[in-house]
Amino acid sequence: MSLRTRVLLAVALVAAALAAGVLTLMTQGAASLPPWLLLAVVVGVPFLLRQQTCDAFVVWKDEYSVGIETIDQDHKKLLSLINNLLAAQHCRTGPEFERQALDELMDYTQFHFEREEDLMREHGYPDYEGHKAQHDQMAIQAQLFRSRYEEKGHDEIPAVARYLKLWLIQHINGTDRKYVPFLREKLRQ
Ligand SMILES: [Fe+2]
Ligand SMILES: [Fe+2]
Repeated sequence: MSLRTRVLLAVALVAAALAAGVLTLMTQGAASLPPWLLLAVVVGVPFLLRQQTCDAFVVWKDEYSVGIETIDQDHKKLLSLINNLLAAQHCRTGPEFERQALDELMDYTQFHFEREEDLMREHGYPDYEGHKAQHDQMAIQAQLFRSRYEEKGHDEIPAVARYLKLWLIQHINGTDRKYVPFLREKLRQ
């Protein structure tokens, strides 16, 4: 469900709860429970909506760190570019912002993959081929999404954003972590 639909539903729910609250207050009085329950809905729904909207975005956590400064900086940049795409999904940012968000995220992902691959190759990381295969597979999938975006425009953004967000977070926390002990040891030498 899009953010716009959620906001419209929340507004309708708050308006209905407010009207019912006033009505029950007038008929049953302040000593009865229903008006206070309806008041809780009026106050609670905007709070929950705000919380849910914030949860759509990604925030860097220390546990994502691989302990290699350039790679961490790249991963942080990727998360902020994902947030631009999520903003394009959830807010009325317009086609120019949306296209730029998608292009920047895909371009920087490719740049980052090459940086990681150079580092792994340079130091003779044993699973270089396996790691690169994951990057290549993701790049192919991302190109498919880009082609679909060219055809469908904004309607394709939720699917692209969902895929890129999940893939990058899982990759950063999974596959990327596997090279950490090996590369950190090499970089210390
Ligand atoms: Fe990475
Ligand atoms: Fe990687």
